[in-house]
This record gives sequence, C-alpha cells and structure tokens, in this order.
Amino acid sequence: MRRGESKTTRGANRSSPSSWKSSYIGYGLVVGFVLMLLFLMVSSQFSNSTNVYFGRPATISKTDSVPSARHQEDHAGQEGGSREMEGHYREKEKVARTHTEQSTGQHQEKKVESEQQRAEKNPIEEQLGNERNSDKWEERHQPEKKDRIEFSEFGGGTDDFNNVANTKPICDTSFGKYDICVLDGDARAQGGAVPTLTLVSPRAPRREWKIKPYSRKYLDGLKAVTVKSVPNPDVVDAPQCTTRLNVPAMVIELGGLTGNYWHDFTDVLIPLFIGARRFGGEVQLLVVNLLPFWVDKYKRIFSQISRYEIVDLEKDHGVVRCYPHLVVGYGSRKEFTIDPSIDDTGVGYTMVNFTEFLRHSYSLPRDRPIKRTNHQRPRMMILERTNSRKFMNLPEVVAAAEAVGFEVTVAGRPRASYDEFVREVNSFDVMLGVHGAGLTNCVFLPTGAVLVQIVPYGRLENIAKTDFGDPARDMGLRYIEYGIAADESSLLEALGKDHPIIKDPIAVHMSDWGKVAEWYLGKQDVRVNIERFRPVLMQALEHLH
Ligand SMILES: *[C@@H]1O[C@H](CO)[C@@H](O)[C@H](O)[C@H]1NC(C)=O
Repeated sequence: MRRGESKTTRGANRSSPSSWKSSYIGYGLVVGFVLMLLFLMVSSQFSNSTNVYFGRPATISKTDSVPSARHQEDHAGQEGGSREMEGHYREKEKVARTHTEQSTGQHQEKKVESEQQRAEKNPIEEQLGNERNSDKWEERHQPEKKDRIEFSEFGGGTDDFNNVANTKPICDTSFGKYDICVLDGDARAQGGAVPTLTLVSPRAPRREWKIKPYSRKYLDGLKAVTVKSVPNPDVVDAPQCTTRLNVPAMVIELGGLTGNYWHDFTDVLIPLFIGARRFGGEVQLLVVNLLPFWVDKYKRIFSQISRYEIVDLEKDHGVVRCYPHLVVGYGSRKEFTIDPSIDDTGVGYTMVNFTEFLRHSYSLPRDRPIKRTNHQRPRMMILERTNSRKFMNLPEVVAAAEAVGFEVTVAGRPRASYDEFVREVNSFDVMLGVHGAGLTNCVFLPTGAVLVQIVPYGRLENIAKTDFGDPARDMGLRYIEYGIAADESSLLEALGKDHPIIKDPIAVHMSDWGKVAEWYLGKQDVRVNIERFRPVLMQALEHLH
C-alpha cells in the first residue's frame, strides 16, 4: 500500500514518528488523510470531467439528467470557490460529512435509476451478443455444472475433506484498503437489500462476515454484503439454487468516489481488470450499488470483462444464483497501477497489459508513438483545466511546444462521445498537463508515448509520483516531471514571498494538511517559465526518437 505508506509518512511527520505505528487511531488518521487528499486532489476536476470526459454522448442521454445533476452539484460546490474548499478541508469532520452527503446523493440517484435499469441493460446485452442470454446458456450447461459441483465438492474425498482446522478462511480482511473473499465450490448468491453470498462446504467452518466489496472499504456510505460458509446444502443451512451458471462470478460494489475520472480507473476499472480479466470474459458480475449511467460510459470495458448480463444484486429478488466459483470484492495494492508482485491477477498481468486491454476494448489503432521523421510532427495533447491549477500563459506554452516541433492540440472542449474522445487521445504521442485527474487519459496513449506532468508549487512531488509518475512508467510511457517554482505560481502573486505558504511548504505539510489541499492544490494556477520549460519539451521530443 504505497500510497498509504507515503501518506503515513506525511502523517507521522505531523505528530510523533512512532505513535502511528502502534495505534489504530493513527491508521484511521492516515486513512482520513488519504481520503481527504484523494477527494480533494481530484474533486476540483469535476468541472473538467464534465467538459472533457463526459461530453453528453447520445448513448447516455437517457440518464443524462442523473449524472448531470450530480456533476452540477460538484461543479457548484467547486465553483462556490475557495471558501467552499477551505470549509471542506479545514476539518476532518466536515470532510467526512461531505462524503456522507455524496454517498447519500448517490443512493437517491440509485432509486431514480432503478426504473431505467432494465432499459439500460438492454443496449449492453445487445452489444454483447447472443451468449448474454444467460437462461438459454444455463440450460445448455447445467448438467456439466452439476457434475462438476458433485465431483469437486462431494465426490473426491481424497484431500483434507474432514480437516476443517486446516482450511484457510474464505475471506481475507487483513488488508487496510479492501477485502476479498473466494468461495470455491458450491457458491450461492442471493440478492436483496443485503445480498448474501454462501459457500456450502463441509470443509469450511461455519462463519459469517460483513464485507464491503469495494476497493476502498474505509469510505463512508458503502453497502455491506453478508458472506458466509455453511456445512450443509439443505434448506435449513443454505438458500436453494434457482439458477446455475457454470462460470465464475464476481461481486463488486460501485459508488465510492467513482464519477471522478482518476477514481473511475484507480478504484474500479483497474481492480476489475486485476480480479476478472483472468477469466477471459467468462465471468458474471454481480453488482452492489449499480450505477447504470456509469457502467454505460465504460460499456466497452465492461463488455470485454464479462460476456454475461450484469446483475443488479440489490434488485435480484426471488433468485438464488449458483456458481462453481465466486469472488467477493476487488482492489489494487497501489494507486492507478498494477504491481504484479503483489496484485494477484492470476496470470501476472502488468499495467502494460491493462493499457493493451483498453486499446483492444476501444479498437484503438496505435500501439506505438510515431518515430520522428522529416515529414511528420509528433502530436502533443495539452490538457487544460477549468478550475484550479490552470495555465496562466497557455498560448505561450503552446507556441513553445510548436516551436520545438510539436503539433499541439489543447483539450478541454466537449466531445461527441467518450468513445470518440478516447480514440482522439490515442492519436497523440505526448500528453502534457498540470497534476490532476485529466492526466488519467494517459492510459489511452500508445505504449512508449510521453507523459509530462507539471507539478504545482508546494512540495507535491510525492503525490505526483504516486498518482501519475509511477503508474505512467508502469504503463510503459516515458515520464517527465516539471516542478513549478515559486515565481511561476499564482500563490506568490497572491500571498507575497514572505507568506509561510510560499516560504516553507514543508512546514505546511507537517502542520496542516488542510492548507496543502486548500492552497497548493485548490487555489493555485501556474505561469510556466518558458525558458526554464523548453528543455522539457526538447526531452519529450527526444524520447520519441
Ligand atoms: C502482457 O504484456 C506483455 C507485453 O506486451 C506480453 O508479452 C504478455 O504476454 C502479456 N501478458 C499476458 C498474461 O497476456
């Protein structure tokens, strides 16, 4: 948990370096800070996201009122300005409440969406073809399934059939960020307000867990499911199967901080790839807190992850779905990346494999950036933000990049659809932007392309590295970082050179994380010193040779 560790270090600096280690309260604080940081780092991106990434595609227009209402709230919250930000991040309690409200809002949306869910699912099913008709599929495969269960669960008797004590628990709740349960054998999923996932196994001790099947289990407002193991397949112990599918299933939760572009990938799409890609589409997703408009935005990804109908587990009344293998929960150890040495993908997938998977999902043409020739100028995408961390001299930056030899496009206009936008991103060789969620788009660059992250003033290098620097390298991108000096920051103009925010960022980090969020992330724009910046542009060009 690199991010946790780095935040921990920051947290530790604030108080005593050893106290957190021995204290769960310390850990709670750490988690609080992580949460605060994430929320704030990217919350200011919502307006950006609305313009650049959501773009009101026709495909989601059915539910347009739902997401746009949500974004407008965030937008408004953001444009309520710095005062609002200050309020949010000065006190932890307030942050917590903000999250609660956000979650509540999502739950309310959920009700509105529910009426549209059937309609929403249909286009996805159409796109996925005939095999999505699970009833027919199940009928055909049911005998095989029965055989397999009887054999694996009751037929063998050669292993530690009676050795309950040696059976490892089906749920691993030891990791701070997410829980995972693996129900292998006779697994039964019963939907409802509190879904229940039951493993029937004479080998497993009778146990029960409450699991929030989300990649950040510590967030407010998540729903829990019940996971239990029972010894007997009879009606007293276990729900009786009404439908069987002879492929694995995975229970995941949406919500959390999704809707923020970086969190979409970090909290859901990458963890989903880690947990489910190994099944090659032969897996059914059972979803808690299903957000149909959100799934629809990423339908090309979901359709590659699973060829089966996505089940809204909370609405799945009167059905008991049985599977030979069921995984509850998902997550990744690091932020916005895959570490194959600690993230269990089953087959050793890397972040390069994830980006290949995305290119496959979106049928993107470019695997590699251009090699520079006399005839073609490499294409640079400059991401412009609409709120904090804006370029104050964007035309100069564009001119400098063009002078060096790039063909420059400034992104920030609404696109016809997300799929089209993704295709456009893939056409670039270099992406350049100030630290923020927009840089998430680098997942669609060709392998070997260049990412330039401009890090605002205020000792934000660790955040920049964790959120984008390390992930970019893991994706096989060439990564360049440019740190904004005090005299390139709007904060110097606003506060003067003697203000503690300018004079001593380290002290600010150690004493008041809220101020880091408020000032360095929330109230800063950048005026890039072109002379100082030009070598970065040259380096980006050289990386393409
Ligand atoms: C992951 O990507 C690498 C590089 O493209 C490739 O060689 C490897 O086969 C991929 N791994 C899997 C499991 O597909």
